[in-house]
Amino acid sequence: MSPKLQSTLLALSMLVLVTFAVIGFVLMGFAHPLPWFSVILIVACAYLQQRVTESKRIRWDDSLSVGIAEIDNDHKRLFELLDAFYTAAVYQKGEAFEQAALKELVDYTNEHFAREEKEMDAHEYPDSVEHKRQHQEMRDKVAEVAVNYGSSSAEELAIYLRDWLNNHIKKTDADLGQFLNQR
Ligand SMILES: [Fe+2]
Repeated sequence: MSPKLQSTLLALSMLVLVTFAVIGFVLMGFAHPLPWFSVILIVACAYLQQRVTESKRIRWDDSLSVGIAEIDNDHKRLFELLDAFYTAAVYQKGEAFEQAALKELVDYTNEHFAREEKEMDAHEYPDSVEHKRQHQEMRDKVAEVAVNYGSSSAEELAIYLRDWLNNHIKKTDADLGQFLNQR
């Protein structure tokens, strides 16, 4: 089930429960346990909603460290920007908000790629051709989605970028980090 659908179902359940609780208190009074049972369910739904939202956040963690502070700091910022875009996409904050978050993410990604590629060139990194090819693949995917941008593609793009970043950082950037640390 998509996060958007989960969120909508929880919100609908809460609306039904609130209505039931209000009608229950009006018709049965505060002494009756049934409306209070609805109140307990409302609190449980709110807690679940918060947990669902939190579990969908995109965050950097120590398993993504490549051992170079400058690159790790760039990656942490990338994850913050990706989380902002993902949240905008999943919770429908509006296309203008989504586009602004995506632009900030893409601009920062390009700056970050340029920094990594400069380091590779400066140290004559032997795997730079393949590493740069992966960067270009990601740029091309974002450009392709941007041309056909629609409400459904934002969430899809955010998930693609999350998975791409995780895979790229854990293998390709980790290899680069190891190489730079041995210099
Ligand atoms: Fe990279």
